[in-house]
Amino acid sequence: MSKKIYIFDTTLRDGEQSPGISLNANEKLKIATQLSELGVDIIEAGFPIASNGDFEGVRLIAKNVRNSTIAALARASKNDIDGAWEALKYAERPRIHAFIATSDIHMKYKLKMSSEEVLGKAVEMVAYARGLCPEVEFSPEDATRTNPEFLYRVIESVIDAGARVVNIPDTVGYSTPSEIGALIRNIRNNVSNIDRATISVHCHNDLGMAVANSLSAVENGAEQVECTINGLGERAGNAALEEVVMALKTRNDYYSTSTRIVTEKLYRTSSMVSFSTGVHIQPNKAIVGANAFAHESGIHQHGMMSNSKTYEIMTPESVGLKQSQMVLGKHSGRHAFEEKLKEMGYCNLEQDEINEAFQMFKDLADKKKYIMDRDIEALVTQGSNKAPETYKLEHFQTSSGSGITSTSTVKISCKDCIREEAACGDGPVDATFKAIDRSVGMRIKLDEYSIKASTGGKDALGEVTVRISKDNLKSVGYGVSTDIIEASAKAYVNAINNMESRLREPDTEEIKVLKLAKDKNYFGAGVEDDWEFEASNLI
Ligand code: KIV
Ligand code: ZN
Repeated sequence: MSKKIYIFDTTLRDGEQSPGISLNANEKLKIATQLSELGVDIIEAGFPIASNGDFEGVRLIAKNVRNSTIAALARASKNDIDGAWEALKYAERPRIHAFIATSDIHMKYKLKMSSEEVLGKAVEMVAYARGLCPEVEFSPEDATRTNPEFLYRVIESVIDAGARVVNIPDTVGYSTPSEIGALIRNIRNNVSNIDRATISVHCHNDLGMAVANSLSAVENGAEQVECTINGLGERAGNAALEEVVMALKTRNDYYSTSTRIVTEKLYRTSSMVSFSTGVHIQPNKAIVGANAFAHESGIHQHGMMSNSKTYEIMTPESVGLKQSQMVLGKHSGRHAFEEKLKEMGYCNLEQDEINEAFQMFKDLADKKKYIMDRDIEALVTQGSNKAPETYKLEHFQTSSGSGITSTSTVKISCKDCIREEAACGDGPVDATFKAIDRSVGMRIKLDEYSIKASTGGKDALGEVTVRISKDNLKSVGYGVSTDIIEASAKAYVNAINNMESRLREPDTEEIKVLKLAKDKNYFGAGVEDDWEFEASNLI
């Protein structure tokens, strides 16, 4: 009999803490909807007290996403827990995830609290959260570096206080597979009431062992695994969901477990997260990397032709990579295009998104003989990443060459204006970005620029991702074109539009209430917040 393993996805919380990633509430909702369709059991939607954006993201997801439990993170303080509940309360199945650090080093230097104070706070806050929310998870942060006897006491006490899930975080990715396996076993043997809770594991990848550590925890009794799509997360990231799930599935003979994940949706989910966050996937990444199912050497190709099992332990189809039979081109009509979108898993596109993608496909087909799946993916992504177009790139012209200064002229339209500006720069992309800055009247910082070809061939689409910032606001933009300067200009304007739309987002009623309550110190009244740090710097 297969033992059920619950998949807890924290892409939108721990993953979003990756350097440079910043998703707005609508992008988070889109990803959460996909995670729910993927079959994720619990979606950690954010850390509401960290920012208004996080609060709004959790609220929107709690209101709209069904079929998964929605969790929100909170430090062990009333302020955080109230904020988490305020954002979560609309969820069909809400879960408050409260945490406090339990290792000596964290208690002494970060919290400046004694172990007895930490224990008291954990129990009090789990009970408080339980009074608001039917399901409470507790994490003793830095558990793998915590004194085991103290860890058992904390776990036993929070279970008595109402926690139904106890999560064991390897916060700094320090553990080894056999150590974390033994820790889970010891928790089962030393915590008297452990049968009243589910044991979860949450591994970071600082030593590249996050997936191996998670699997070892499962072998030793963990029933929930916390992970992220593409292994996103703080520093070196978290355990990659797609790797954990495919390891459990492919080696079911060894693990004897099952998950609810529809593995055929893994590839699509991974691409969506990669596009929205602007974090590319390395080609040799397990399961979803471009080379994960490519066979280059002659010996391997020969083996594959005789029997694919010679070199393939799982099929590309099982993770949603279709070996496409249908290649589109100039003569393909709308029906074939829509069939292709469905085959690729784009089943929920709005009619105007399909129309726009079809128009872009037709334009591309004039320039490129064969349109591959990756081209279509790039076009659809460009269309679906569009924020309202405050600014629109109407026209650009560049001049560059060896030994001359690059210049660029751009024409940008906005609601009731057309602006044309020129600039010189260090290459045509730099000149174009400077001309766009002038046209929109802003000085924008380019934090990151990356370009890749969607497919092989000289006529491949160039895909450009940019990350920009202005004051404290960050944004990502994406653009595609067979002309890489045009792709760059589109990505830059897209990033500016994303930033603009975020600036214009009005505060929701809940955020107004929360701000007012915070101003009046309603949540914090009489609460011992002397160990509080800035939420965003805490974990
Ligand atoms: O890594 C960690 O310790 C965490 C906890 C908040 C669960 O992310
Ligand atoms: Zn973490």
